[in-house]
Amino acid sequence: MNTSSLPRIAVLATGGTIAGQAGDASKTAGYKAGVVGVDKLLDAVPALASVARIQAEQIASIDSKDMSAALWTTLSRRIDALLAQDDIDGVVITHGTDTLEETAYLLHLTVKSTKPVVLTAAMRPSTALSADGPLNLLNAVTVAGSASAKGQGVLVAFNNQIHSARDVTKTSTYAVDAFRSPETGVLGFVQDGRVEFQRGVVRPHTAASEFAVVDQWPTVEIVTSHADASRVMVEALVAAGVRGIVVAGTGNGSMHATLTQALADAVKQGVAVVRASRVGSGHVMRNGAASDDALGTVSAGTLNPYKARVLLMLALASGAQDLQRIFDTY
Ligand code: SIN
Repeated sequence: MNTSSLPRIAVLATGGTIAGQAGDASKTAGYKAGVVGVDKLLDAVPALASVARIQAEQIASIDSKDMSAALWTTLSRRIDALLAQDDIDGVVITHGTDTLEETAYLLHLTVKSTKPVVLTAAMRPSTALSADGPLNLLNAVTVAGSASAKGQGVLVAFNNQIHSARDVTKTSTYAVDAFRSPETGVLGFVQDGRVEFQRGVVRPHTAASEFAVVDQWPTVEIVTSHADASRVMVEALVAAGVRGIVVAGTGNGSMHATLTQALADAVKQGVAVVRASRVGSGHVMRNGAASDDALGTVSAGTLNPYKARVLLMLALASGAQDLQRIFDTY
């Protein structure tokens, strides 16, 4: 087989369950994430050799619950450097499922290339019976090498589906079809080497985004509204000097009256406050369940609280003042 015509894909490994190891193949919950090296992950998928020419790097070996903004900066800059090379056609990132949606959205808004960037992961450790990582990795490399994935922003290939980084979220603690895009649905499918997109990505991203990673990230925290909510969290955060707070509100971003007052006071002290919802799907409308105009808050639209936090960090890092425009645009 003449492999010189195959796309050249860089695989960047960060850890996760896809690189997880258990003492017993029947264990799918009791294991350690992020211990198997990228070379071993690739060796487990001989079919990759007929899909792409691969070069691999171990960027980190972590459980993604421990992902940091500093690692986001490293990852985004490394992807940009690789994609600036003429001989690299796309990048695949292996990641844990737990914060995959946050990393994917951050990269969607900071990578400055139209070449494909695809994240993948696994729900079962690499040592498990019926591990899902090998097929997910093969599919991710297939998507990254596909001409139709160019210009679609950062993608997530998981369980034969292709999702946009903006919309995808983890929705199950154990199922192998753990990811959904609740408001929009999948972007497309990948199966047996065939990549099929069903729709495009409308909002700006990657090369068209106004954002960049930074060395010093503004502190943005998430507070949840719930029955009997108090001022305690918000007051502590303001005293600690946070630049932004995302509220995981009830319903359409509504908030307990006591929390509402605390957040209005935080806004008066210069803290940016964004209203999202803890519900898991749906739209938080501006001036819907709370008056953003009166409170000085911003509505997150269809971004969940974790992605709203990513966007608020990027917006504050860029010095932007018009936060509602940013949330309406991205
Ligand atoms: C992680 O997010 O690193 C652990 C869980 C997983 O990958 O499914």
